[in-house]
Amino acid sequence: MEAKHLIDLDQLSPGELDEIIRLAQKIHSNPSAYMDRCHGRIMATLFYEPSTRTQMSFQTAMLRLGGQIIGFDNPSNSSVSKGESLQDTVRIVSGYADILVIRNPLEGSAYAASLYSRCPVINAGDGGHLHPTQTLTDVVTLSMELGRLDHLTIGLCGDMKNGRTVHSLIKCLSKYPGNRFVMISTPELRIPEYIEDVLRESGCTYEFRDTLEEAIGELDVLYMTRIQGERFASRAEYERQKGVYILDTQRLKLAKPTLKILHPLPRVDEIEQEVDYDPRAKYFEQAEYGMYARMALILKMIGQKYPPAKKIENEQGGHCTNPRCVTQSEGYLPKLYCEHGDVKECRYCNAKI
Ligand code: CP
Repeated sequence: MEAKHLIDLDQLSPGELDEIIRLAQKIHSNPSAYMDRCHGRIMATLFYEPSTRTQMSFQTAMLRLGGQIIGFDNPSNSSVSKGESLQDTVRIVSGYADILVIRNPLEGSAYAASLYSRCPVINAGDGGHLHPTQTLTDVVTLSMELGRLDHLTIGLCGDMKNGRTVHSLIKCLSKYPGNRFVMISTPELRIPEYIEDVLRESGCTYEFRDTLEEAIGELDVLYMTRIQGERFASRAEYERQKGVYILDTQRLKLAKPTLKILHPLPRVDEIEQEVDYDPRAKYFEQAEYGMYARMALILKMIGQKYPPAKKIENEQGGHCTNPRCVTQSEGYLPKLYCEHGDVKECRYCNAKI
């Protein structure tokens, strides 16, 4: 694999992504053949934000590969609580471990970590920005359950604005031919501008709908999401949005018999528990496929070691004003940008500059 770190699934070529999917399928069908592949290796999981699936599936993946794990799942039990910077934490832990998995509420934090790490960094979710290994989980699930990633009508429902899993999934599936996206949300929770730019540039068909009922019958895949209460400016704003979209057995009657229902989980109230017993519900299988996806990714990435970081100078015009960007709170980070056509984006969080 060419990428030194996995911050965004875009870093993988379609061939590399396909290789990881196929490896995950092979591990799924014969896990015992892989049980010693990471013997003597250590994975560090630095979780600054709560997680059940991502953290535990990464840890289980490493243990099932014969490796060992270190890390924290609550920064207040680490020296972060004494004011240690992200940079220093990463410099230290990447000296101990062979691979580093990081989740942090600040957008662009995984990219920031990669600038100082001496081993591969995997982004396990950076605020509302990206969640590439969830997308890997999602595409492994679709490959296992549908046998293809193209020519699908994909409905995405709920919090399209703050749902990083949706952003990563759209970026990935818009590269496959014939896919059509139906986004079901309130106007306030629509996808961010840069994700709509991705869709526009990909040439895929996409549309916005107000209700689940008007879209569900057309879909091959329904990707439900939670309204992300923790990312709202106020409780009142969250209360206005929650409970708008609920998948229940009545609405499911309008769907194709071949529909696959996915959800990155955790759910709150957006899928009724009765739906769990419908054979079209695949979200629990999806969480398990995530472990195989992460086993495959670890095998592809582990083994590289990098020299200590060199100083990076600021780039003129790289100052980001996104209040949720990691550069706002980790003030030592160099100001960096990338260009998307004639638009400048923050190199960390992709906000337009
Ligand atoms: N899907 C997902 O990221 O779940 P966790 O927050 O439990 O890791």
